Amino acid sequence: MSESATGLYPNFNADFRLTDAEFNRIRELVREHTGIALSDAKRQLVYGRLARRLRALRLDDFSSYIELLEAGESGELEQFTNAVTTNLTSFFREAHHFDILADNLRKIAEKRPIRIWCNAASTGEEPYSLAITACEALGSMTPPVQIIASDLDTNVLRHGEQGVYTADRVERMEPARLQKFFTKGIGDPQGSVRVRPELQRLINFRQINLLESRWNLQGPFDAIFCRNVMIYFDKPTQYGILERFAPLLRPDGLLYAGHSENFMHAAKIFRSIGRTVYARTPDSGDGGRDGGRSSAA
Ligand SMILES: C[S@@+](CC[C@H](N)C(=O)[O-])C[C@H]1O[C@@H](n2cnc3c(N)ncnc32)[C@H](O)[C@@H]1O
Repeated sequence: MSESATGLYPNFNADFRLTDAEFNRIRELVREHTGIALSDAKRQLVYGRLARRLRALRLDDFSSYIELLEAGESGELEQFTNAVTTNLTSFFREAHHFDILADNLRKIAEKRPIRIWCNAASTGEEPYSLAITACEALGSMTPPVQIIASDLDTNVLRHGEQGVYTADRVERMEPARLQKFFTKGIGDPQGSVRVRPELQRLINFRQINLLESRWNLQGPFDAIFCRNVMIYFDKPTQYGILERFAPLLRPDGLLYAGHSENFMHAAKIFRSIGRTVYARTPDSGDGGRDGGRSSAA
C-alpha cells in the first residue's frame, strides 16, 4: 500500500489518497452526470467503488482519474456512473403498489393496450414484477401490456435483460408464482432461475438518464414507476423531472414513488392519492394529448 490514509480517516487503510478537494470534485462530477447528491458520509463508499477503477486503469492517484473524467472519455464516464449508483431492489418490493396497479390494469385493459414506464429499474426485479402483475391481473401470459424498463446503469440493464436471478432473490416468492413465471435455465449458475420468455417479451430495456434533457421515449403511459431514485436527487432536480413526467402520463395515469419519497413540494403537478401513489393535477400540462412528445426524444 502506497498510503495508509485518505486524509480524513487516519485509520482507514487505503491504496490511494483521496483529498478533500478530490472528493469534492468527484461529488460535483457525480451530480453533473447522475443527479445523485452525495453527502460526506458517502466518502468511504465512493472511495471503495472508484479505487477499483483506478486499479483497473493502473492509475496512481485520484487526480489522474478526475482528469480522465473531465476529458469526457465516454467509456470511462459510463464505468464511473455505473460505479456510483446504488442498485438495491427486489421482486415485489413495496407490494401494495402492485395491488393498486392490478386493479387499474383490469379497468384500463377493457379500453386500450397498456403502457408502463418503469424507470430506475435496476437489475430488472421491478419490471418483471410489473409483468407478472399484468399476466395475473389479465389472466394471460400475453397481456396487451408494454413495459419500458430504463436505468442509467448499463450493467444493471444487461442483468435485467438476461433475466437470470440467484435463488436468494426469489426465496420469498410464492411457490406457485415461481413455478409459473420462472424456469431453471440449462447452463445457468446452479440454483439460479430464469424468467420465462413471455415476461421478457413484455419488457423493453433501454438506457435513460433521468437527468438528460431528452429522453429516448414516447408517451403516453398509463403508469410511471419511479421508485427509490428521487431520494438521491435534490428537490429542484426532482421537480424538473416531475414536470417532465406529467405530459408523459395519461390524465388518468398514476405515478408510483418509493416508500421514503415525498412529492409534496410538487403539489402543483402531482397530488398524493395515498401510499406513495400520485395522480396528475389539472394544472399539470397537456399529458396524453400530445403523447408526451414535447418532453421526449
Ligand atoms: C435503489 S435503485 C431502485 C431500484 C427500483 N426502482 C426499486 O425501487 O427497487 C436506484 C436505481 O436508480 C438508478 N439511477 C440513479 N441515477 C439515475 C439517473 N440519473 N437516471 C436513471 N436512473 C438512475 C440506479 O442506477 C439504480 O439502479
